Amino acid sequence: MTRIFSGVKPTGHLTLGNYLGAVRRWVEADQHKADALFSVVDLHALTVEHEPARVRRLSRQAATLLLAAGLDPERCTLFVQSHVDEHARLSYLLECLATDGEVRRMVQYKEKGTRARAAGESVRLSLLTYPVLMAADILAYGTDEVPVGDDQTQHVELTRDLAVRFNQRYGHTFTVPKATHPKVAARVMDLQEPGSKMGKSHESGAGIIYLLDDADVVRRKIMRAVTDSGQGVEYDRAGSPGVANLLDILSACENGNPEALAGVYQSYGALKKDTAEAVVELLRPVRERHAELAADPAYVDEVLRSGARRARDMARPLVDRAYQAIGLLPAG
Ligand code: TYM
Repeated sequence: MTRIFSGVKPTGHLTLGNYLGAVRRWVEADQHKADALFSVVDLHALTVEHEPARVRRLSRQAATLLLAAGLDPERCTLFVQSHVDEHARLSYLLECLATDGEVRRMVQYKEKGTRARAAGESVRLSLLTYPVLMAADILAYGTDEVPVGDDQTQHVELTRDLAVRFNQRYGHTFTVPKATHPKVAARVMDLQEPGSKMGKSHESGAGIIYLLDDADVVRRKIMRAVTDSGQGVEYDRAGSPGVANLLDILSACENGNPEALAGVYQSYGALKKDTAEAVVELLRPVRERHAELAADPAYVDEVLRSGARRARDMARPLVDRAYQAIGLLPAG
């Protein structure tokens, strides 16, 4: 059976980008068609300046939201990364395989490193090695498919390179995974800065729709979205990124096609209004279910505990095999 792994890192509140780019497919397709694992990858949240209590809060909130969105613990394995030691164990082996040059080429490292330096912060070594930990997350489970948004493609490519290199040097151990992306909305853009990705860790929230935003807040953010100075409604991601982004969002909500939708609208106002209502309706059940689940943290904890047990049982034998293949003595 196909094995699927994906994750979300608790560096901020989950956004519409996370939902449309990743989580919705996990819920609607991946958990039904495959043996799927989904993780709140909390170790990744330590790669930047962070407040311990906030990381804990966001980790629990992310897990609760994933359940609220419809992940079913009877169908998939939901767990917190730091509860399964195999991720860090395998990450070290992969650091012994990856080169300094290939991790420094990662676009996210360059962008985040530049931002940290500009804010006068030092860049943590773990920010550089982060894609190697991500590769370990994926490879530890013999993963075939990694459902992600566009921004993770380069990291999955590195993961593939490391798997192939390990197998060639030390004998076949890892499955070589591939990234899968949604047909539309694989890169939802910030509503205020349509040239940048809608990212949960950005400072200003005006261009970001959070899954837990009230309906009125969602409407306001979308009605104030930056559009373009052109006349008609056209689907042109390079020339009219603001409008194209709204068309992407609306067509993702309606399972439609952004080019076809562009022909339906005469004005930006009408497009914004329909997009706002579609997003409000899309998120309403998630928010309602989140409120119910947040009132029962013991249930969420139990799901995470049993998820971690299952994940450990899956990862352990494979990571042990990798330890032996690379030349380490078995622990006995
Ligand atoms: P993260 O937490 O930034 O995002 C989680 C998922 O949401 C997708 N995504 C988006 N999709 C479309 N438009 C956007 N604006 C948008 N923003 C985020 C991301 O592509 C991702 O699929 N490195 C990963 C976390 C990770 C991981 C893994 C993922 C760690 N280990 C192993 C897959 C497999 C990250 O930072 O995702």
